Amino acid sequence: MACECDMSNSSRHTGERRTLIVGLVCLDIINVLDNYPLEDTDTRVQDQLWERGGNAANTSVVLAQLGVKTEFIGTLADSTLSRLMVEDFHKYGVLIDHCIYHNNCKPPMSCIIVNSSSGTRTILHSNRSLPEVMYEDFELLNLNNYTWIHFEGRNVEEVLKMSERVVMHNGQFIESHDRIQISLELEKPGLKPSFCKLLPKADVVFLSKDVAKESGFQNGEECVLKFSKDVKPGAVVVCAWGELGAWAVGPNGEVVHSPAFPPAKIEDTVGAGDTFNAGVIYALSRGSSILEAIMQGCKIAGDKIGHQGFKIDA
Ligand code: ADP
Ligand code: FRU
Repeated sequence: MACECDMSNSSRHTGERRTLIVGLVCLDIINVLDNYPLEDTDTRVQDQLWERGGNAANTSVVLAQLGVKTEFIGTLADSTLSRLMVEDFHKYGVLIDHCIYHNNCKPPMSCIIVNSSSGTRTILHSNRSLPEVMYEDFELLNLNNYTWIHFEGRNVEEVLKMSERVVMHNGQFIESHDRIQISLELEKPGLKPSFCKLLPKADVVFLSKDVAKESGFQNGEECVLKFSKDVKPGAVVVCAWGELGAWAVGPNGEVVHSPAFPPAKIEDTVGAGDTFNAGVIYALSRGSSILEAIMQGCKIAGDKIGHQGFKIDA
């Protein structure tokens, strides 16, 4: 505890407080085809790329390019394959000092089919052995170093403990600018109903269209309105919906919508949602309105899907 206080002063005085992104980094093997392959055929692909992926990692590299001092915390297998991921973080200036390395594990991997005709991405993901970030790992962080913490809602019970620690930390501050903003992404279906416990902890909740559909909602507006009843008062609820753009609702209950900003040609939709989230976090953290923030998210996601990878024109 004594250490936290010391760092608090030094971080505030040197303006070093940063955004922390908690979640997955993995290896993406991306196969680009001009048509979805037929089962039991032997197909030549247009391109095959090995890239760093993972929602939290993708969001981190986009935020860093927007000029945000960004740290990522996740787990890495102690394997030569992890070098590719570490080098990519370094390339974008994302801090990874608190990542946790595990021996005798394989890195999580996704085999992805990008259909360049339709713009779809089909992801086959596997994590056979690498543990997730645990509360014990998160507990070692000095929270005074952060202004914003974004959680990928993966291992719900652990993320719950982490977010509760941040809420407790915030309790000591009177000024809202001293408190850490918490955002939470609920992207993968199948975590309901356990993820409901996380909803009241966050200032900003991102729900994917897959989670919206799983919850029985037909569109983004319905989704944000219904979920806004389960979040803490004053929180922002956001739902991106591919080519239809994104919806959000904030403290005043007004639902706002941004259209998508499609590029001339869609090249790579992998991580469109992660890029959108980065744009929204960036804009909200700079005091933009909710509408401005989701428009910023849609613009940057539109830019991202116009070319392969996560290099953006910031
Ligand atoms: P995910 O990557 O989680 O599936 P979405 O498909 O919801 O994310 O997309 C996130 C954002 O990316 C959308 O709000 C939109 O702005 C942009 N986007 C994604 N797909 C398209 C598309 N086909 N055309 C235009 N914009 C898109
Ligand atoms: C895109 C992505 C990929 C990764 C997969 C994990 O949102 O993060 O980079 O392979 O999802 O589910």
